[in-house]
Amino acid sequence: MSLDAALLAIDRACASGAVVRELERREAYARDESETTPVVPEAVIHARSAREVSAILRACHEHRVPITPRAGGTGRVGGAVPVPGGLVLALEGMADLRGVEADDLRVVVQPGMILGDLHAAVEAEGLFYGPDPNSLASCRIGGNLACNAGGPRAFRYGVTRDWVLGMEVVTADGTILRVGKPTAKGVTGYDLASLIVGSEGTLAVITEATLRLVPRPEAVATLLVFLPDARTLGQAITATLRARVMPRCLEFLDSFALDVLRPRMGLDVPTEAGAMLLVEVDGDEADLDGLVDRVGSTMLGAGALDVLIAKSGPERERLWSARREMSYTMRAQARFKLSEDVVVPRSRIADLLATCAELSERHGVRVMTYGHAGDGNLHVNLLWDDPDDRPRVDAAIRGLFERTIALGGTLSGEHGIGVLKAPYLPIEQPAPLIALQERIKEVFDPRGILNPGKIFPTAARRFHGGC
Ligand code: LAC
Ligand code: ZN
Repeated sequence: MSLDAALLAIDRACASGAVVRELERREAYARDESETTPVVPEAVIHARSAREVSAILRACHEHRVPITPRAGGTGRVGGAVPVPGGLVLALEGMADLRGVEADDLRVVVQPGMILGDLHAAVEAEGLFYGPDPNSLASCRIGGNLACNAGGPRAFRYGVTRDWVLGMEVVTADGTILRVGKPTAKGVTGYDLASLIVGSEGTLAVITEATLRLVPRPEAVATLLVFLPDARTLGQAITATLRARVMPRCLEFLDSFALDVLRPRMGLDVPTEAGAMLLVEVDGDEADLDGLVDRVGSTMLGAGALDVLIAKSGPERERLWSARREMSYTMRAQARFKLSEDVVVPRSRIADLLATCAELSERHGVRVMTYGHAGDGNLHVNLLWDDPDDRPRVDAAIRGLFERTIALGGTLSGEHGIGVLKAPYLPIEQPAPLIALQERIKEVFDPRGILNPGKIFPTAARRFHGGC
């Protein structure tokens, strides 16, 4: 490995100022929004074009220097944390909206664009892009694609992968390729776009994406459904689906999360409520009242204590800003927090909640749960103050993962595996499946320079040690 030779080649190929070596500026790229141990990169490279990305990767490939691509750095599992001795490839400077193509219901965008800006741009044209991770004010499209991000609206509108038509990507040796199809349909060859989306920056760097759009729903209403306890949740969800309503969100808060959020919601939350569902429906203006009534009466029939309707813009805004801040609000509840994002089939969600209560009791760890109940995807937050409690927390996490798999679920619904969940991958995936994926990684990146140390337990141990 020759870092100096790589940096010299990169410096020659990129615009001046692209290579940042000052310590204070590098430190800002040492962490993401997770508890992964920070690693300060040797340099941060700010790319401006696919051609520059290609030259940067070619230099890293030639000189065997590890490099970690990064868009918004809002990830939750350490996926954008570099490895010791490595570089960060910063993509926030490639943030152009290349064009909204309304007649073809698609948009072409660079990876550094902030998701909230993309929403605003397409909605201004009467169009709609579904995925809405709660970090939408700061997360960027490149990271959404790399992690196949989801969000509250995934229940009805799916996750990032469902909106990708085609992408321009650069592989580890600097080759620029177009994968997927920019057309509405297309089945020629292997679906490499689907493989690269969700590969957490380990297979290729995404330099442009063509994303699918739909017409913007005309109207939206938000209902707050108060439940006596978490057990009623499964019934409430099943009853909604049986009533043939497809809300765009079915977001859950358990009693602890509800207590934390109560003062921030700006609405009267009944004191006897032991859980809450935030339900959102959208559609034509003329149909909306009917949909709201149907959801409301169905929820009351399924055991809800009360249903409030937030119709005005400011009311909805206050609720959503409280919900979007939830994970930061949780973090402030204790000295340490680890947050999981397990998924079970939605019919098993009551079992998952029972497991959380059991694990909390057995290991003496505070557990608060909220999340995307409609998808069976819950954020299970473990909170503690005494550093000596960490082994008990780890035991609770292992227990949570084992039970999730036993319920037919998966370790991560939206945050990915990254560094933090890599040690647990074998709980879900057998050795031959992990080995097959490691071989795919080798085909794309034979010298192992592109975001090494992520997803696979052996690689994570080698580069990130005890995480
Ligand atoms: C959320 C993030 C943490 O749903 O996924 O708040
Ligand atoms: Zn989430």
